[in-house]
Amino acid sequence: MNSPVMQGLNLHAPAFVKNARLIAWVADMAALCKPDAIHWCDGSEDEYQRMCQQLVDSGTFVRLNEAIRPNSFLARSDPSDVARVEDRTFICSATKEMAGPTNNWIAPGEMRGTLQGLFDGCMKGRTMYVVPFSMGPLGSPIAHIGIELSDSPYVVVNMKIMTRMGRSVHEVLGVDGAFVPCVHSVGAPLAKGQADVNWPCNKTKYIVHFPETREIWSYGSGYGGNALLGKKCFALRIASNMGRDEGWLAEHMLILGVTNPQGRKYHVAAAFPSACGKTNFAMLIPPSGFDGWKVTTIGDDIAWIKPTADGKLRAINPEAGYFGVAPGTNTLTNPNCMASLDRDVIFTNVALTDDGDVWWEGMGEPPAHAIDWQGNDWTPQIAKDSGAKAAHPNARFTVAATNNPALDEAWDDPAGVVIDAFIFGGRRSTTVPLVTEARNWVEGVYMAATMGSETTAAAAGQQGVVRRDPFAMLPFAGYNMSDYFQHWLDLGKKLAAAGAKLPRIYTTNWFRKDADGKFAWPGYGENMRVLKWMIDRIEGQVPGKEHVFGVSPAYEELNWTGLNFSSTQFHTVTSIDTGAWRQELQLHAELFQQLAYHLPRELEHTRAQIEKKLAAA
Ligand code: OXD
Ligand code: MN
Repeated sequence: MNSPVMQGLNLHAPAFVKNARLIAWVADMAALCKPDAIHWCDGSEDEYQRMCQQLVDSGTFVRLNEAIRPNSFLARSDPSDVARVEDRTFICSATKEMAGPTNNWIAPGEMRGTLQGLFDGCMKGRTMYVVPFSMGPLGSPIAHIGIELSDSPYVVVNMKIMTRMGRSVHEVLGVDGAFVPCVHSVGAPLAKGQADVNWPCNKTKYIVHFPETREIWSYGSGYGGNALLGKKCFALRIASNMGRDEGWLAEHMLILGVTNPQGRKYHVAAAFPSACGKTNFAMLIPPSGFDGWKVTTIGDDIAWIKPTADGKLRAINPEAGYFGVAPGTNTLTNPNCMASLDRDVIFTNVALTDDGDVWWEGMGEPPAHAIDWQGNDWTPQIAKDSGAKAAHPNARFTVAATNNPALDEAWDDPAGVVIDAFIFGGRRSTTVPLVTEARNWVEGVYMAATMGSETTAAAAGQQGVVRRDPFAMLPFAGYNMSDYFQHWLDLGKKLAAAGAKLPRIYTTNWFRKDADGKFAWPGYGENMRVLKWMIDRIEGQVPGKEHVFGVSPAYEELNWTGLNFSSTQFHTVTSIDTGAWRQELQLHAELFQQLAYHLPRELEHTRAQIEKKLAAA
């Protein structure tokens, strides 16, 4: 046992912890946060069960009915702590320009001072858990290690599902391996004898990243991406910095495998803004008319992509579980997801039914009575009278990837999978057609950079407003967005110069509405029709129709077997309104003005080219 004593607190580092820098850092953080105890997580099943029981005993968890939903729990958060807090998220790089205009920035020295004050004694009366985790298959050349210190047992059990967590991480880390230090506190110290609440948090919140030193500090929230620091904080904001410096990509992308009836398999990485059906697309079941086609999931949210010596881009899912949005999920929209949720799930902010199961809006027939996400009685009549939701719109499930019946056999392969195509999917009720293929890498980067999206419930704030969401990375790029565009362009250039065949780039929009304001495209499994067109394009089987900003399918190029979708309907989802596009280009210009510092010249040039073609159209 490594047991330095810090101010009366014995570190009790177990023998499997061998990394001197880690032990010293834990000692420093313990001295600052002043927890009552330290627990070094081993990631065992026994530890998980004990901690879940502890959460049941303390009132944070409700154990669900074992006969209906075995080994599953419900947590209800504080109503003030229900989503990522983008306005409290900071990229504290050395200069403001390095963080860029789309990130909140405070000078690192000033922020360190603030954090020292906040973290001083913040864990009094609580246990500091030391959570070792690998983002990606253990020991993979694409993976990286993090250590999260947290005073939230809820965070620990979620991290156990969401990452490869435990002793084996220490084996990979060894005596001198590198890790990203992540400190998390709910910011609610307990005085002697003070009773705890079910969901401790603090109304002051800071989600802070120091890109140069690769550190994460999170204070005041126990929820999702604010607190499970492997996810958005490490795997996107810090990893995007690592990727820029080391020549790889950390992206807000699902990864799927698609196998055709001849057994040829392709891998697609797709970026969609938060809560826009990424999990549905990653678990898609091909509809009728697609006999012999198979879609398998490698990841549902984040991709780490590294170029290999032969010029290929190999991707892993750094996560090991899904932290998905529950409302709207049902056996029709996502049967594979529903099957994943049969057991071993942590639900947060869904409703509890009288038989000890869960329910959420859009799951199916509502129960006659339930307890809503805030612990109040809920009935369909109450909902009608007051508009009260049974589940919070950003209610979540946390479940291991291994529960997914459509899990790809290579999901845990340390070598990753070779990416054949990128998809960038906006959420636009007008203007943007169903699918467009970029004619080259620069045009694809332009499409991704100018993606627009109507906001959703995954982040706190106003909903339904269109905002530009470049690469679906607006809240997640850990450095200047224009430098991030440049990094994509540079990588493409480098690979092409080495003779590599670059993945195709597509942009999609499942969300076009018709004249009555209804979604004009059926979406969900029917998106397979678009996916097949992409594969057909890769295989050179369909010519497509070239237009001002790319190539889109002709009606006859999609397989319509099993779906009644007329050429008029197809026109509604694919038409290009030149007037609307002239306005759209104006909005692109406004975005580029905002991002003028370091904006790659190729992007402004591409915009000007499209504008010229539109003027001539
Ligand atoms: C998420 C998100 O994946 O907000 O939770 O994007
Ligand atoms: Mn996401």
